Amino acid sequence: MVRGALCFCAAAFLCVDSACSFGIAPAAAKEISIKSRSCRTGRTVTSTVLCGKKKRALEVDEDGTVQQSKAELKKLDELAAQLLNLCTTNARDTAAIQAQARDLGSKAVKPAQSAELSKDWRLVYVSSGDVLGALGSGLHKLPLTRMEDQFVSFAGSRGLGREITTTEVLRVIGPFPNVKNVLSGTYKSMGTSELLINYTSMIDGTGKEITSGNAAMDGNVSIEVVFVGSDIMVTAPRDASGARQVMVYQREEDLEGALKRLRVT
Ligand SMILES: *[C@@H]1O[C@H](CO)[C@@H](O)[C@H](O)[C@H]1NC(C)=O
Ligand SMILES: *[C@@H]1O[C@H](CO)[C@@H](O)[C@H](O)[C@H]1NC(C)=O
Repeated sequence: MVRGALCFCAAAFLCVDSACSFGIAPAAAKEISIKSRSCRTGRTVTSTVLCGKKKRALEVDEDGTVQQSKAELKKLDELAAQLLNLCTTNARDTAAIQAQARDLGSKAVKPAQSAELSKDWRLVYVSSGDVLGALGSGLHKLPLTRMEDQFVSFAGSRGLGREITTTEVLRVIGPFPNVKNVLSGTYKSMGTSELLINYTSMIDGTGKEITSGNAAMDGNVSIEVVFVGSDIMVTAPRDASGARQVMVYQREEDLEGALKRLRVT
């Protein structure tokens, strides 16, 4: 009877959860996987249940993207909203931001494979200027130049190919217009929390396209993703000394409008 319930509606997380409580999984089992059809999407999913105190269910669909349960996502979204608040108030409490980011990261499941990744993101917090260029061209380090804003956009799927576009807006001190550099390329997830980025082109502020001669394009760019939610992405790039820093991105719903306000369309 329980087996039937599982096959019938494995995507209802209660059913999947019950595999532990009904004893389908041996008491000692820490993790069980069930292949089934998702009630929500109709696609084949692999549901993984972690039994015991840390009971948690997630689905991985054919594309390799992770779908977490609604209840779980809601809880994480609340923590994420608190983190965004900490990042966007005027008096930022660095210690609190780092602690909250760590907490969120410890609860994230396979963030680099999250279905939430494919959107536009705007950088709202970075714990150290050293890592500002982690996803960018590094051109903000030029004299009299500062990073005014930074956007990262992910698109596509495993089948269609995954694309990344990073738009950095630089301000040059003095009576100069802002400069927009757009890096584009592909990315793939490596393991549960790493994205490997292959930039193949950069359109610089003058509209010129370059395909090499820039640190971002000539080496591999790899980034550790700590958490991805519906409105927030947290990454943990390493600084020159190897220490983990925190970068917090907020979902940008109107990238064109944001660029317009920065006068770099
Ligand atoms: C990056 O992409 C280009 C163009 O598709 C390809 O030629 C190159 O081999 C890729 N580099 C890596 C490291 O995957
Ligand atoms: C980039 O990644 C490719 C494949 O993952 C590897 O073979 C190559 O050595 C890397 N290059 C650098 C500069 O790290």
